[in-house]
Amino acid sequence: MITDTYHARHFNLSGLKGISDQTLEMHFQLYEGYVKGTNDLNQRIADILADGIVDQDETPAYSEFNRRLGFEYNGMVLHEYYFENMKKGGSGDPARDSEFYQATVDSFGSYEVWKADFVGIGKMRGVGWAICYQNPANGALSNHWISLHEVGNVAGFHPVLVMDVWEHAYLLDYRPADRPKYIEAFFSNIDWQAVEGRVHLECPTNFALSSVGQ
Ligand SMILES: [Fe+2]
Repeated sequence: MITDTYHARHFNLSGLKGISDQTLEMHFQLYEGYVKGTNDLNQRIADILADGIVDQDETPAYSEFNRRLGFEYNGMVLHEYYFENMKKGGSGDPARDSEFYQATVDSFGSYEVWKADFVGIGKMRGVGWAICYQNPANGALSNHWISLHEVGNVAGFHPVLVMDVWEHAYLLDYRPADRPKYIEAFFSNIDWQAVEGRVHLECPTNFALSSVGQ
């Protein structure tokens, strides 16, 4: 069994614009909690499976551990994408000659429309994430609202830009109603090179293909 596999990564993000070091420090601790939660659940499930069967009296606990697994795994992984796509000294918008910029034009008609959609999703009520994914089948970008950490992720799609809009991401710096200001700050810190590295260049931009396997 795979247990105790994951180790919290360290991100050097001190000095971001509009997102304080205090917020980041608290956020790193939350992230570490998801890493620990993922390892703990894997261990508990492994313990139940150690004798090769799931006994009837183990079924309630086994079921609960498995129901929580998607929350913990996505809480861990999405935070890594999020921290990774920011940097000190980021710039507001991507270079016009970048693959990402071109992909927004191909998928949305313009970068501005892509951004309006991504920001609009980020302002939606509730806690969750705004994520721009790339469909590996045709290279198309699409933006999605993810509730909590695990509801709404598209299987097989690649996260390209990930923005945390849980209140813990900005509540030390902004009032709850000022989420748009946090989103503005997030954009000013984006590491577009990291984003560019996630765009899969081999993806054909062919919108006749609408899903994997077609
Ligand atoms: Fe978070």
